[in-house]
Amino acid sequence: MKTIIEFKDVCKQYTMGEVKIDALKDINFTIDEGELVIILGASGAGKTTVLNLLGGMDKVSGGSIIVDGEDITKFNDTRLTDYRREKVGFVFQFYNLITNLNALENVEFAADVCKNHLDPREILSKVDLSERLYNFPSQLSGGEQQRVAIARAVAKNPLLLLCDEPTGALDYNTGKQVIQLLCDINEQYGKTVVIITHNAAIADIGDKIIRMKSGQIRSVTLNQSKKRAEELEW
Ligand SMILES: Nc1ncnc2c1ncn2[C@@H]1O[C@H](COP(=O)(O)OP(=O)(O)OP(=O)(O)O)[C@@H](O)[C@H]1O
Ligand SMILES: [Mg+2]
Repeated sequence: MKTIIEFKDVCKQYTMGEVKIDALKDINFTIDEGELVIILGASGAGKTTVLNLLGGMDKVSGGSIIVDGEDITKFNDTRLTDYRREKVGFVFQFYNLITNLNALENVEFAADVCKNHLDPREILSKVDLSERLYNFPSQLSGGEQQRVAIARAVAKNPLLLLCDEPTGALDYNTGKQVIQLLCDINEQYGKTVVIITHNAAIADIGDKIIRMKSGQIRSVTLNQSKKRAEELEW
């Protein structure tokens, strides 16, 4: 398998007035193309910091991040904007849909700026929302809003799908459906998917599990007995 992401000695410090916080200390890992990766760790471990750096939403204090053969930490702001727009699809805990656009418009709005985007209606059908195209976010359940958010990210046809606690605001069964959907997208579209969670039970769906603690990597393991979302219990 081809390595598509490489973190090399990545550090991130935040300065709050006089205080320096080491959010990440010498992070090293690789991700292969098409891999489904779970980043697991307690609150404050540095998971979101890793994802934001990988997604080009924040800048490293040291080290490098190679994505698809290029060091994104060397990109200027214009190239970083292009990278975010073309290569990265984001899914957040609280969906972040545009409230005055309906489901279809939310997906079209994101897809329109991408060169190789997929058909918004087709992707919305894939997430089982063909009947809700013209509903506004306020007229959709949490699970449905998250499916729109996933459709929005996938319709860009990105290289990477990055998900930060995608089930964090959902009930048990809806959470499982969303996890299964992310697994399907990983398999059917061959997308590299990274999912952050603090829920150890979800880790079993991953090909690779990266465990973090206090800004460091505790372990990187390959999962030999990958489970389907419906088999998970938490
Ligand atoms: N913008 C920021 N300014 C200052 N400190 C920050 C900032 N973002 C994160 N931190 C700090 O960096 C550390 C790692 O934060 P991060 O958000 O990556 O954790 P996390 O693993 O995602 O936690 P959670 O599960 O609660 O979302 C924490 O100590 C946090 O307070
Ligand atoms: Mg976080």
